[in-house]
Amino acid sequence: MHLDQIVPLGRSAADYRAMFALQPDDRTRRLLGCGDGPAAFNAGWTGEGGRVVSLDPLYAWPVDAVRQRIEATFPDIVRRMHAEPERFALAAGETIDTLADRRWAAMQCFLADYADGGRAGRYVAGALARLPFADDAFDLALCSHLLFLYEAQLSRTFHRRALRELLRVAREVRVFPLVNLEARPSAYLAPMRTALSDHGAASEIVKVGYEVQRGARHMLRITRSSAHSFPDLDIS
Ligand SMILES: C[S@@+](CC[C@H](N)C(=O)[O-])C[C@H]1O[C@@H](n2cnc3c(N)ncnc32)[C@H](O)[C@@H]1O
Repeated sequence: MHLDQIVPLGRSAADYRAMFALQPDDRTRRLLGCGDGPAAFNAGWTGEGGRVVSLDPLYAWPVDAVRQRIEATFPDIVRRMHAEPERFALAAGETIDTLADRRWAAMQCFLADYADGGRAGRYVAGALARLPFADDAFDLALCSHLLFLYEAQLSRTFHRRALRELLRVAREVRVFPLVNLEARPSAYLAPMRTALSDHGAASEIVKVGYEVQRGARHMLRITRSSAHSFPDLDIS
């Protein structure tokens, strides 16, 4: 992957807490943020005493290159937000500009943390569907705005392998949102849930107190019972 193929956009730690219904007790758990990009989740969660490693292909680049890429791509993101305001469920008092300001602030928070966090091993370069972590390295893996949302770009086979890999490294996986870019329920959701169930993983759709993309209000929570049930997982 080249840096000019990535359009970085990141959410805040508060967004993550709401999207994934995280609780104060979760700070003692080992979290993986998969596909965190320039989100401020790692900086915020670490600052609150939580334990988290973020993984993203973006982290193959140093801070100056990532900053330049963010600065080069953000104006167009904001232009597109203004062109399609109906895509957003804005909270009372919020506008497209204040939402854009929040995204920008989150990315500045990430950039301020990125170099130190990288040295501390909190930002790891890598990509699904193969993660550079041992089995059960984490208690909970989070995946925000990647799976299901980009179903047009990421195949069903990729989704199958990605979920299997996330469940290899963490006993619990949460994915948000469950709609595609057109805000329609992802066509992959039902077959993935059926196959996961066939292979002994429980999944539930949980309504959360977060909606920015209109219609994106639910996360998928998947749990498996043992470390050994997934090497054979084959979701077709
Ligand atoms: C829309 S952004 C979401 C960023 C962050 N999770 C958030 O919600 O604010 C999608 C992220 O997924 C990353 N990504 C793309 N392909 C990936 C892959 N195969 N494995 C892991 N991350 C990937 C991108 O680099 C990008 O940072």
